Amino acid sequence: MCGIVGYIGRDRAGRVMLDGLKRLEYRGYDSSGIAVLNSAGIQSTRRTGRVKELEVALGENLGGTLGISHTRWATHGDVTVANAHPHVSSDGKIALVHNGVIENYLSMKKFLDGKGYTFQSDTDTEALTNLIAYHYDKEKEQDNKSRFLEAVRKSLTHVEGTFGVAVLCTDCPGELIGARKGSPLIIGIGKNENLIASDVNAIAHCTQNIVYLNDNEVVHLSSEDFSISTTNSTKVEAIIQTVDWDTAQAELGDYSHFMEKEIFEQPESLKNGMRGRFSDDASTAVFGGLNLSPQDLRSADRIVFLACGTAWHACLVAEYLIERFARIPVEVEYASEFRYRNAPLDKNTLIIAISQSGETIDTLAAIREAKRKGYRTLSINNSVGSSIARECEGGIYQYAGPEIGVASTKAFTSQIMISAMLALYLGRLRSLSYGDGVEIVKAMKTLPKLVSETLDQSGAIATIAKKYAKYEDCLFLGRQMMFPIALEGALKLKEVSYIHAEGYPAAEMKHGPIALISKNCPSVFLATSGEIFQKSLANMQEVKARKGPVICVAGEDCELPEADIDEIIRVPKCHEIIQPILMSIPMQLLSYYIALERGCDVDKPRNLAKSVTVE
Ligand code: M6R
Repeated sequence: MCGIVGYIGRDRAGRVMLDGLKRLEYRGYDSSGIAVLNSAGIQSTRRTGRVKELEVALGENLGGTLGISHTRWATHGDVTVANAHPHVSSDGKIALVHNGVIENYLSMKKFLDGKGYTFQSDTDTEALTNLIAYHYDKEKEQDNKSRFLEAVRKSLTHVEGTFGVAVLCTDCPGELIGARKGSPLIIGIGKNENLIASDVNAIAHCTQNIVYLNDNEVVHLSSEDFSISTTNSTKVEAIIQTVDWDTAQAELGDYSHFMEKEIFEQPESLKNGMRGRFSDDASTAVFGGLNLSPQDLRSADRIVFLACGTAWHACLVAEYLIERFARIPVEVEYASEFRYRNAPLDKNTLIIAISQSGETIDTLAAIREAKRKGYRTLSINNSVGSSIARECEGGIYQYAGPEIGVASTKAFTSQIMISAMLALYLGRLRSLSYGDGVEIVKAMKTLPKLVSETLDQSGAIATIAKKYAKYEDCLFLGRQMMFPIALEGALKLKEVSYIHAEGYPAAEMKHGPIALISKNCPSVFLATSGEIFQKSLANMQEVKARKGPVICVAGEDCELPEADIDEIIRVPKCHEIIQPILMSIPMQLLSYYIALERGCDVDKPRNLAKSVTVE
């Protein structure tokens, strides 16, 4: 959840780290800090609030050749300067930034009790900082270089929990150490400078040569060199990879917010995700990285999808799509529940994780649990080289481009599109006919254009948003594949506008939520043509009969009782396989414009962080 940037090189530590923190702020934004080591010792500046507060405090004071920095999403302790990172050991020797949770920090503090170390914060991180200082002091006899490294290693072996850390030591001005277990950390290799960061996005403008650290690995960096070993001192061969995305993709350009940019990028992000992924005869999808043969996939009797948040909603759509087009039974689990539930699974179950960031700890842990039990694992993921992508046997990259807005938008529609293509592929391996395959591919190819047409209604949706921004409650209702879209519509609205919103299968409303309906609680209905369309209309009338305002998002081919509906948003007529994507667009726009009306910070909603790397 927190962001880390560390730098060792030629006198631009502060500048590079500040730039990196700005690019990382979406990972956590309640406080931030920078520590630079120079001849006067560790110079630490920390501020609560956004990175711009830190920038003001630093002023021109950005020199130094070695530093660590952090943007925080609080886990232990309030949002205060004392709890902000970097933490400095009470003997002033060690500075450390940390992402993750140290579960046994109280026993660390107890161990340090009476040994001369004091604590200024309520954080778990400060306990580790002092523990490193303690081991560093104990290893006095060794030569300085390995003494620092050994002290870090020794301390990390005592950690129960998760960490991505960057550490510096006053006695070692030419050394920077990083390590990870459960929280991402990468190394950026530059010319006469090296970096560490929790996210490629933070340093891709400095270097495109990246090494992804694995769990229990420690990197020891100087400005010219680096070496990786495990926490128990086994040497590790580094694999250098090149980041292949254009860093301009992570810039705002002419847009006011990343959420707006990412909503409007969808015709392009969807096109990128399907590029080169249809067979020559245009009757099925082809995926390069599944690493499972058609025979393996044919023998899957069941698929279990694992994810959190918006990605979990994408899994629910995948369930409808795969059951409908491939006739394989699908279950969808919250990753955080699956890992502790010990659900009995058939031996031919295939596990698929969906994650935009590829770093969500609950999803990663669930995948590890599935692997421990011997299941085959795949992922659908938007971050090349992420932990989930690397730990699954195979997978499908979304290629939606970096998603910076904390509220997921383009990643969601791309996850649905990939799921639809997977349903097509699995269907064609089973009973879906060639003709049906051709029809689906044709429909998928129309998607970017139809999404553009839907986006053209943004002005009208902004007008509706103005009218509805004053309400404090809202229901989202849809049937079949529109039910997960209703859930996602509700999540989006509550995330960015703080309006209380809930999603339900439309017919479920009668079983309880109808008690909420009044003139003060609007309902957003998602209606698509097909066999249950009339039933959706009946549900709408039930709301109207109780004076609930109705906003209806419907296909162009749906005949609506217009006089009875307060607002109508139309999406183009399309094949059912792409309906969930088109219907998502108005949900996103509505949330975005309502949040703007309410003066909310849409890109950094309160209490949230982009990638959730704590349990
Ligand atoms: O990176 P992931 O897709 O694994 O993230 C999962 C959720 O944390 C994420 O979708 C979250 O719900 C977003 N804030 C939704 O907008």
